[in-house]
Amino acid sequence: MEKNLTMDKLVSLSKSRGFIFPGSEIYGGMGNTWDYGPIGVEIKNNLKRAWWKRFVQESDNSFGIDAAILMNPTVWEASGHTTSFADPKLDCRECKTRHRADNLIEAHSKGKVNPDTMTTEEMESYIIEHKVACPHCGRFNWTPIRQFNLMFETSRGVTEDGQNKVYLRPETAQGEFVNFLNVQRTMRAKVPFGIAQIGKAFRNEITPGNFIFRTIEFEQMEHQLFCKEGDDEKFYNLYKEKAHSFLLDLGIDKEHLRFKDHDKLAHYARAACDIQYLFPIGWSELNGIHNRSNYDLSRHQEFSGKSMMYMDPITNEKYIPNVIEYSIGADRLMLAILCEAYHEETLEDGETRVVMKFHPAISAYKLAVLPLMKKNHSEKALELYHKLSKEFMCDYDESGSIGKRYRRHDEIGTPFCLTVDDETLNSGTVTIRDRDTMKQITLKIEEVEGYIKDKIKF
Ligand code: GAP
Repeated sequence: MEKNLTMDKLVSLSKSRGFIFPGSEIYGGMGNTWDYGPIGVEIKNNLKRAWWKRFVQESDNSFGIDAAILMNPTVWEASGHTTSFADPKLDCRECKTRHRADNLIEAHSKGKVNPDTMTTEEMESYIIEHKVACPHCGRFNWTPIRQFNLMFETSRGVTEDGQNKVYLRPETAQGEFVNFLNVQRTMRAKVPFGIAQIGKAFRNEITPGNFIFRTIEFEQMEHQLFCKEGDDEKFYNLYKEKAHSFLLDLGIDKEHLRFKDHDKLAHYARAACDIQYLFPIGWSELNGIHNRSNYDLSRHQEFSGKSMMYMDPITNEKYIPNVIEYSIGADRLMLAILCEAYHEETLEDGETRVVMKFHPAISAYKLAVLPLMKKNHSEKALELYHKLSKEFMCDYDESGSIGKRYRRHDEIGTPFCLTVDDETLNSGTVTIRDRDTMKQITLKIEEVEGYIKDKIKF
């Protein structure tokens, strides 16, 4: 990551190179919605694939699901979202903008006061005592703080009365809890086992922003580990470790990551922490790990009237398992990966190149196939492109000088560029240029597939 990286630079590169576009742009946009472009969608899919591989495929007793976004509304009563999934907000009476009280306090105290540990009354007193001004108009004339529920409501059926109110899920986790017994029975799973899911979540955030850091529609990758009382601490520590190694293995510098324990725990939680990343906006949450006791399954047992008991087949013991939750936003991870990959380098000729140094497994294209001269080399280059595209994502690029084509692929993070030239036609060899070192090697055509496959392993 570059020291002087700003969110504006990333937004601009993302737009110009097809990573991420502003949502509904031709209609003037729709605040804080973003559309992934051809390069961005590949990278995000690769991140999701890498996560699934690590937390489902390579994790013993871990099972994936894909639950519905719309759930029976009682789910959100059981989970506590209808009553307590709210942010403390207040309005500026002068300029009519809405703000989060906790954000105002955090910014005013320059991070020295932690609003997470404060009650609504304490936050109100702080704002009055310190005359915290509106960041938009600079005046001091606030409404009282009110709790603002973050769930998006919609209605099903043809009438719009309260009977038909449903919610867009604000997290994927509940789909995993309500399917606990379905998965346990069908997969003959024995505790400890995990359920994983990747999917969209929606939150009516009061202060979305900072590009894809906080949006109203986003994707989560969540994993619930169901374990026996007494084993929870061990699995909590294990998942802290697993979550951290996953980020390191994606190529994130360990100096850009840190653990942050939560200061205020929910009444049922035994422990909770975030892994924070050093975003251009400062240290901020990238993912969370929670030891949630048996609260979630107990609540669903209470509200559904269905037993959530697990019976140990060896000891015949019956109990409601505890849950260790690991949750990371796919878009927030995408942002961290974009920040981490971004480099500006001054070359020997004095030119600057922007290069996105993604882990090759994450890059959109693994290989760009470039004919040195369109007239002489395009036929062979296209033949190679079609052959190698069957194995991994390739791009074919014949427009502009070879130097310009290298720059374009540096900016989208293609780890390797293959050039077809006279040597290819005469002796069946190609040159492969490495994105990071810019060094070139010569390979026989038949060696290319194995060479690239070896480099893109995760
Ligand atoms: N089930 C637990 C849960 O949802 P969370 O801390 O609210 O916990 C988990 O969310 C992760 O989801 C966060 O660490 C973050 O990566 C991502 N996330 C949460 N809200 C988000 C938003 N508005 N925009 C983008 N990502 C978000």
